[in-house]
Order: sequence, then C-alpha cells, then structure tokens
Amino acid sequence: MAESNMDFATLMKDDTGGIAGTMAAGREYLGDGDASRLLPDVGHTIDSVPVAELPDKRWFQKSYGRAVAEKPEDLLVGKGLFYLTEQRQLFLDCTGGHYQMTWGYEQPELTAALLDGIQRGIIWDNHSNIPSAPVKRLAGRLVEVANPGADPTALLEDDERLNTVLTGCATGTVACGAGIKMQLLYYEQNKSEAGAPVFVTMDGNYHGSDIFAQRLRGMWSQYFTNLEVVMVQPTDGEELERVFGEYGERIAGFWAEPVLMNREAILLEPEYLQLARRLCDATGALMAIDEIQTCFWFPEIMMFHRFGIVPDLVILGKGMTAGFHPLAAVVYKGKYDTLAQYDAISTNGNAALPAYLALANIALIQRDAERIAAAGEYYHRKMTELAGQFSNVLVGARGISHMTGLKFHRVDDAIAFHRAAVAIGLWLRVHAYHEGHSTILTKFALPLDEQVADYAVGTYAELLGAL
Ligand SMILES: Cc1ncc(COP(=O)(O)O)c(C=O)c1O
Repeated sequence: MAESNMDFATLMKDDTGGIAGTMAAGREYLGDGDASRLLPDVGHTIDSVPVAELPDKRWFQKSYGRAVAEKPEDLLVGKGLFYLTEQRQLFLDCTGGHYQMTWGYEQPELTAALLDGIQRGIIWDNHSNIPSAPVKRLAGRLVEVANPGADPTALLEDDERLNTVLTGCATGTVACGAGIKMQLLYYEQNKSEAGAPVFVTMDGNYHGSDIFAQRLRGMWSQYFTNLEVVMVQPTDGEELERVFGEYGERIAGFWAEPVLMNREAILLEPEYLQLARRLCDATGALMAIDEIQTCFWFPEIMMFHRFGIVPDLVILGKGMTAGFHPLAAVVYKGKYDTLAQYDAISTNGNAALPAYLALANIALIQRDAERIAAAGEYYHRKMTELAGQFSNVLVGARGISHMTGLKFHRVDDAIAFHRAAVAIGLWLRVHAYHEGHSTILTKFALPLDEQVADYAVGTYAELLGAL
C-alpha cells in the first residue's frame, strides 16, 4: 500500500518532527489560557517549548517580510488572549488577533460547535447560488439583530426596514464593494440627472483593499473620472452640513465607521450620525455604516443601535465568524435590493461552516452580554483614568469599551511606547505614520476581564512612567 502523503510531517515538511514538537509543547504550556497563570510570564521566553526550524518568509512579497533576515516573532500557537511566537516569547494580544478574533485564539465552545457542525454534514463553502441551511439561518439572525423585537412578518414586507441580507461576500472589502455598487445603481436609476455622483467619506476611513475602497480614502484618484470623493473630518457637523449643502442630490453615498480603527480610534458622536442621517434623507444619499470593526464586539452585536439611527446599509465582516474565515455581509433596506445575482457575490462567499460559527458567535455574545458590557466599560474607564494620570504625555483615551486607544501629545512618544510595549510582550498597534497621528490602539477580545484589564493598564502605566 502506498504511504500516505497527507500527514502533518509531509504537509509541513517537518522531517524531524520539530514543528509538531514545538507546537505541541506550546499548546501544552498555554493550557486553557488561564490568565492568572500566564500573565506573570508575559514577555518571557518559555524554555519548556523547544526551538524548531520553521518555514521562512522568503517567498512572500517585500512588504510582508521577504527581506527580513532576523528571526521573526511570527505566531506559533495561541489560546484565549495569549499567543506564543516562533521564538517562544509569550504575548498578551491586546488586539483580538488584529481586530477579528472576537473570542481570541481558540474558544472551546466555538471549536465544539465547529466540529459538531462538520459531523452533522455542514459543508465548508459551496458556490454562492445554492445556499445551505446555516447561511439562510444566519441571514434571519442578522435581520433579527438589526431589528430587535420586530415582528418578522411585518419586517418582511416593509422595504423601508433593514430586512435584506447579502451573505455572499467573502471579505469585508467585497461587502463594502457591494454597498458601493448599490449606492451607484440607486443613483443611476434615480438621480443621475444631478451629474457625476459624489461619495462623502471620513478622513482616515478604511473600507477595504480594492481599488474603489482605496479611492474612497484618496488613492488612485487620477484613474477615476465621472465621480467625486469628498472627505470630511469625523465629528465636524458644520463641515458635513456645508458639504451636503454644496453637493446636494449629487451625493450617492455617505460612508462612516462608528469607531475609526484606522484613524486613532475616533468614536463618532450620535449627534453627528443623526445629522448625517437627516442630510442623507434630504438629499437621497444612501447611508452606509461600515461595522466591520465594531460588529460582534458589543452586546448589541451591531453598534449602530447606540447612535439612534437606522442606516440604509450595514456592512459586517471580520469579527462575525470570530476569525474563522471567510464571511462578510451587507444588511440593508429592501428598497435598495437592486443588484443582479452576479453583481455582488464572491465565489467563496456562501460559507456554510463560517455561517454556523457566526450563529454560535451571536449566541455567545448574547449569553455574555452583561459581562461583556461591564468588562468593556471597566477597561475604558481605567484607560481614561490613566490618561488623566499621565496628562503630560497623553491627550486622552480614545474609542470605547474593548476598542480603546491612547492619544499621545508627541508622535515620538507614541512610537517609543509601542516599541517598549511589544518588547515586553504586549501586542498592540500604533497610529503614528500619518501627519498628526499619535495613538496606540487596542481592541481586546471579549474574554477580557478585570484581572487582564488591570494587568494591561498597570503595565501601560509603567511604560508611560519610563518614557
Ligand atoms: C472598517 C473596515 N472596513 C473594511 C475592511 C476590509 O475588510 P477585509 O480586510 O475583510 O476585506 C476593514 C478591514 O480592516 C475595516 O477595518
């Protein structure tokens, strides 16, 4: 009988078993991710985990490490809020796996749901136009979450409500692209006589990595004609009124993220979005709220509820499947359901297994809603107190709940703080590479509790004191 070529050693070219060994030891060390045991070790090298020869990044693009010669701190294994690097250093991940692993690295109930789903025959991801039960069930759950307490029969018939879901999107970029196309098509069908369409976006926005999404943040402008993008400052209501006054009916779409995680965690004010809602209504512009960062990170699951508005389009992604790719979605008012089938789906966007995980994710968040709210408030309050304590270095705390940043007076301090934090095992981000940006960013996964919050904020205090 031919030998199997499907074992880990062959797939990973792990001839000596070194990779399997280091991963197994790493997992054993992390155990169930218990913070009381792991926090004292954060930043340390864990010697019980053997060093292994791991694949390098030589085939990657330059911007992704092709030229990196020193040993990378890439990820080996993770559990809960913690992960070990290939160099066996223990990190506390203050960013939820770069903003998308809602429950951190491996949540046992999600893993159990995943395995149970597979056992029951839920397929991974088939082509978009023959959806299976979990995808249809998820569409229903998303409509419920978007319209809490609403009567489903009345909702189904009311095209002024958020009663339609496009689930056939693999990533947030594709979902944002679908939203843009809905805005353009609506414009073409109803307002094209007004002239070239205008998109109003926030300065510092991030709606994805394709060319149109990048155009919305100011790139590639020389290649776009018959279209204008006007960027406004988040929270400046007067400017927004001026822009809507100037462009009026030419505005096809308004785009906003409740928390600008690509711009120093700026939190939009309810009054600002309420004003935007009124201006969109007055000019016939479609309001898109991009919740790819905020969705599945708050007890309400969709954060727009906190702003006293109902958007025309809500974009979901990232945290929806807790980091189990791929799935993103647009939840929108039925009256904008104008795209043809192949105008807005991606081949890998009808993902039954991720949809099942998204259902489990909703269940976990709803079950833990109170605890999540309390932990988020606690962390943000501690960060605000910290900013007061170090007002010589810090302008203030930014963002909300688990998604909190610290704005520095000086860019150099923000960069130095970031470097020092990473060196001692706190994985967080810094926005300091655009004019005026000087903020460190965190987005803790939902298992965050007071113990971890105290540890993190206490360590930030030490780092601030040493600046
Ligand atoms: C607010 C926002 N919109 C859209 C996207 C694009 O999502 P994706 O990277 O899944 O394509 C991102 C990704 O970071 C995001 O943060």
